Amino acid sequence: MARLSKGPIGIFDSGFGGLSVFKEIEKILPAYDYVYLGDNARAPYGSRSFPTIYKYTWESVQFLFEEGCNLVIIACNTSSAKALRNIQQLNLKIVHPDKRVLGILRPTTEIIGEISISKAIGIMATEGTVTSNSYPIEIKKFFPEVQVFQQSCPMLVPLIEHLEYESEGAEYYIKRYVNELLEQSDAIDTILMACTHYPLIKDKIKEYLPDDIQLISQGQIVANSLRSYLDRHQNLNDASTKNGKRIFLTTGDVPVFKKQSRYFLGRDIEVEQVEIG
Ligand code: DGL
Repeated sequence: MARLSKGPIGIFDSGFGGLSVFKEIEKILPAYDYVYLGDNARAPYGSRSFPTIYKYTWESVQFLFEEGCNLVIIACNTSSAKALRNIQQLNLKIVHPDKRVLGILRPTTEIIGEISISKAIGIMATEGTVTSNSYPIEIKKFFPEVQVFQQSCPMLVPLIEHLEYESEGAEYYIKRYVNELLEQSDAIDTILMACTHYPLIKDKIKEYLPDDIQLISQGQIVANSLRSYLDRHQNLNDASTKNGKRIFLTTGDVPVFKKQSRYFLGRDIEVEQVEIG
């Protein structure tokens, strides 16, 4: 493999949601430099067609490569489900054979079956993630005995992106989606928030769940998996700069991004607006 120029680790999401993953990554890998990119201007991706999600995701990944990233984490389930395979198997091989793009489905599906005792798991996700069927397919590979029940929640990302998640409308949809999921099986004991935006409304989702159902977010799972990946891939580890630097980029509105990131990260950040596509 050719020697890579050193650069930050890229983290991408259609919008703010990936910050819930970034937060956990920086907790356990604080020394690394990161560039976070939210394609807020074109979010939500969840109800868009496959070619559109693939196009937007690849454009965003290329943008992060141009920022000097050698490793990009797609902290978005919809993009991971719809675009990652093509990016890894087609685009990278031709354009950037030395760079790597990782998704968040694989690390999650590798361990989620261990968390459920009843072996019945509910998935809350965007329409795109649900229709891709990626979660049931991938979970079955690692845990053939596990039953997977999916609930598409198309209104949740738009409500979060528009800072409306504390409204009555949000309550209505959260309650409705949780109930529709639970109606699918009495055996569900674990619900995975398979959309990186949902941890922001975790407490609201919990309000509609019986106490014996556990609600799982992906941040820590993905962070642990990245640490292990960097341990196993020294070339990428060596090619990652480690000055504790963070850069936050959005294709959307800077003041909105700053406000929203406070809810996700609990601190104020500098944000720059960029054009993609
Ligand atoms: N955070 C993205 C996910 O994990 C949301 C996708 C969207 O923009 O709809 O799926």
